[in-house]
Amino acid sequence: MKINKQVEEVLNKQINAEFWSAYLYLSMSAYFETRALKGFANWMKIQYQEELTHAIKIFDYINNRGGVVKLEAIPDVPVKWNSILDVFQETYDHECKVTAGINNCYETALAQKDHAAANMLQWFIDEQSEEEANVLQIIDQLNLIGQENGQAIYHLDKELGTRVFVDSTQPTA
Ligand SMILES: [Fe+2]
Ligand SMILES: [Fe+2]
Repeated sequence: MKINKQVEEVLNKQINAEFWSAYLYLSMSAYFETRALKGFANWMKIQYQEELTHAIKIFDYINNRGGVVKLEAIPDVPVKWNSILDVFQETYDHECKVTAGINNCYETALAQKDHAAANMLQWFIDEQSEEEANVLQIIDQLNLIGQENGQAIYHLDKELGTRVFVDSTQPTA
């Protein structure tokens, strides 16, 4: 059965939101580069890569279901933040908005009785919980060590520098 048209519409919007997220995190990565925080910059660049895979997962899904992908312009993203904590707070707030978008897609799929789409969206629901938890953990760490604690920030930067990209949209062997 071809994808439901209303589901197609909200999924196309979600593709745009995922690309915007990718842009946001790439901009945050550049901000950290300007502050010589290479590890934070690395973490955000991987976040950027993850968001691209999310967009492509939905892109492939629409195509596989005989739908029409509609790629829209990606709005500008911020370029400056006041602090490291500020960046992660914005990341968390943004992820909550993305979660709301995913929930809306899921509810639309259910309302339109497109159970295949609802099933696909389950993956995103789990992914969002994980992402929110990861960001909250970093916020907790930042609050614990304090903004001015250079040595602790240095160590956290080293830790975030070890993050490597894993495409979680692909099945693991
Ligand atoms: Fe995402
Ligand atoms: Fe995300």
